[in-house]
Amino acid sequence: MTANFASGSIWTGDNLAVLRGMNDACVDLIYLDPPFNSNRTYEAPIGSKAAGAAFKDTWALDDVDVYEHGEMAERNPAAYAVIEAARQAHGKSMQSYLVFMAVRLLEMRRVLKPAGSIYLHCDDAASHWLRAIMNAVFGTSSYRNEITWKRTSAHNDATSFGRVSDRILFYGAPINRDAVRVSLDPAYVEKHYRHSDARAGVFGPVRSSDLTGPGTSDGESGKPWRNFDPGKSGRCWSVPRTGDYAEWIEENVIPGYRSISGVHGRLDALDAHGLVMWSRNGYPSLKRYLASSKGQIPSDVWADIPGAYGKERTGYPTQKPLALLERIIKASSKRGDLVLDPFCGCATTLVAADRLERKWAGIDLSPLAIKLVDERIAEERGLWGGANALDAPPARTDLGELPNYRTHRHRLYGEQEGVCVGCETHFPFRVMEVDHILPRVKGGTDHPDNLQLLCSGCNRSKGGRAMAEWKAAQCRNGD
Ligand SMILES: C[S@@+](CC[C@H](N)C(=O)[O-])C[C@H]1O[C@@H](n2cnc3c(N)ncnc32)[C@H](O)[C@@H]1O
Repeated sequence: MTANFASGSIWTGDNLAVLRGMNDACVDLIYLDPPFNSNRTYEAPIGSKAAGAAFKDTWALDDVDVYEHGEMAERNPAAYAVIEAARQAHGKSMQSYLVFMAVRLLEMRRVLKPAGSIYLHCDDAASHWLRAIMNAVFGTSSYRNEITWKRTSAHNDATSFGRVSDRILFYGAPINRDAVRVSLDPAYVEKHYRHSDARAGVFGPVRSSDLTGPGTSDGESGKPWRNFDPGKSGRCWSVPRTGDYAEWIEENVIPGYRSISGVHGRLDALDAHGLVMWSRNGYPSLKRYLASSKGQIPSDVWADIPGAYGKERTGYPTQKPLALLERIIKASSKRGDLVLDPFCGCATTLVAADRLERKWAGIDLSPLAIKLVDERIAEERGLWGGANALDAPPARTDLGELPNYRTHRHRLYGEQEGVCVGCETHFPFRVMEVDHILPRVKGGTDHPDNLQLLCSGCNRSKGGRAMAEWKAAQCRNGD
């Protein structure tokens, strides 16, 4: 589906309304770094670029949360059950936080392309509950990793081991492995690349790798070569002919290597060019030079990316480092893809996406976010035309040509059997009015699923509120 907003858009406001206004399946990658339920209020230091930025991360159960939680029983029973378990095991603050997250994650699921990916950044305050909610919303089959990001080397916690890491829950498509390779771990190099030869000055140290594989064979790959019979140990020759190392050998040591026919022919060529190592008891193995390594795929523990520091630091509370976002964006998107950060803070994701030539959009409650996006991207690009600053949610364009919502009055009157959804009283047709369950200013649409009939009294009382807010207020007032 095509996005109904331009790349470079950034909204100031609650992301729920903005997400609700976005077309289905239009985003390739979502990274979100929401408040973590840390029970703190974050403020940027006075004098920093981000001075004035603050957000609360304490959660109290609201009537709206209770109502929305109840609604979830129908929309996503699994998420409802997880939140109910959290309420019992952890308390109402966790319930409130998880309702906040779950309603937004359901929208993110809708706007994400089926082949897209999502990374949810959190810490151990709620990562276990969030993972259960993510399983309920995105499905366990989309789960890829729970990444541990070591953000600092020491943290003084009075009663526990120092909390130095965050969690990043990753769901979605397989990663682009070659885009995220890093140099081999020096400890691994020291342990395995123990050999050297005349080429070491150019190609670095050498490790040995097997030239045989499991299983015997009646063909050439099972026959002895240079007095070594692999069949004696239940093995057969396994000499690279395709793949990265065969390509490297052809480019760097043996021209035409991959066209050499026959297993023994390739073994002869490797030996003639000094690529076979012989052990004292006559066991041949293949030399692999460090220079031929394409690097390794990072594990699920990321200890090689420090927190944002130096010139990169804006002072924005909880700012994440660009290198972290660059790894995520490279792993799960390609040039031209659309990256969305619905809690974009000081725009780290957006700056990283811009650098990597992705399209991007962000949302944040804080008006400072837009100012920082402009400043940071202008610094990167030199001349910069400015982000597309918005505060009204986008209007969906993927629902087809919808008739005027008032034309649903007769149908709804029949479906509701003349009963007002608000006060549950029967009324004559003339006093019934078509109402948006979620108002258009909050991302609601004219789609029949978002329409209901209220009597004129209830419609006036509800006003511009969402049905959930109005119902919650009624409970509060004991109506
Ligand atoms: C942990 S910070 C994100 C930091 C960001 N990753 C960065 O590198 O700067 C969380 C952000 O979420 C924003 N936020 C909280 N609730 C929000 C909501 N309902 N809609 C949009 N933004 C929200 C806060 O203003 C804050 O900037």
